[in-house]
Amino acid sequence: MEAKNLHFLAILLLLVTNMSAITCASSASSSSSDDTNSNFIKTSCSTTTYPKLCNQCLSSYASVVRSNPWKLCNSALSVSLQAARNASSLVAALSKQRNLTKAEAGIVKDCIENLGNTIDDLKQSIKVMAQIGGSSSTAKNNMEFQMANVKTWMSAAITDEDTCTDGFAGRKVSAGVKSKIRSSIVNLARITSNALSLIDHLKY
Ligand SMILES: *[C@@H]1O[C@H](CO)[C@@H](O)[C@H](O)[C@H]1NC(C)=O
Ligand SMILES: *[C@@H]1O[C@H](CO)[C@@H](O)[C@H](O)[C@H]1NC(C)=O
Repeated sequence: MEAKNLHFLAILLLLVTNMSAITCASSASSSSSDDTNSNFIKTSCSTTTYPKLCNQCLSSYASVVRSNPWKLCNSALSVSLQAARNASSLVAALSKQRNLTKAEAGIVKDCIENLGNTIDDLKQSIKVMAQIGGSSSTAKNNMEFQMANVKTWMSAAITDEDTCTDGFAGRKVSAGVKSKIRSSIVNLARITSNALSLIDHLKY
C-alpha cells in the first residue's frame, strides 16, 4: 500500500472514531412518562452494530414508536432517508465548487449517482414497509416476499454508499473534499446498516 493511502486511512480512522459523537444530535432527554418507550428503543438498538448512534437517532421517536418494532423500523428508515438526503445535498454542493480537479469531479459525480440510487432504494423500502407494517391481513407468503425485497434494497443501498466512499480511496482528492464527504457517508452507511439490522429482527 502506498504511503499516501496509509495516510488517508489514518485520517479516515480518526474521522470514524469521532463520528458517533457528532451525528443525529441527541435530543433533549425524554420525560419520565416516556421511560418504557425509551427503554424499548435502547434495548432494540443494543442488537445493532452501532447501538449508540442508533439510540441517538431514534430516541426522539419514542412516543411514536412506543414498543412497536414495525414502527421502530419505519422510523429507522426515515432517519436513514434523511441522512441520505443530507449526504446528497452535501455532495451536490461540493460538485458546484469550481476548483475541483477532473478526478475529483468524476468521483463526486459518481457519488451523487450512487446516493440517488440509495435514496430510491430507501423510499421503496419505506413504501413497502408502510403497506405491510405488521398487518395481519397480509398473506404470510406475500409478507415474506415483500420483506425479502426490502432487505435486498437495503443491502443495495449500503453497497451504493460504500461505493461512494471507495471512489476516493487511493485517488488524488483534496483532504477537505474527502473528509467532508467521508464523514457524511460513513454516518449514512452506519445508520442504514442499523436500520437493516432492526428489520432483520422483525418477526413475521
Ligand atoms: C439532516 O440535516 C438536518 C439539517 O442540518 C439535521 O437537523 C438532521 O439531524 C440531519 N439528519 C441526519 C440523519 O443526518
Ligand atoms: C475550493 O473552493 C472553495 C470555495 O468555493 C473553498 O472553500 C475550498 O477551500 C477550495 N479548495 C481548494 C482545495 O482550493
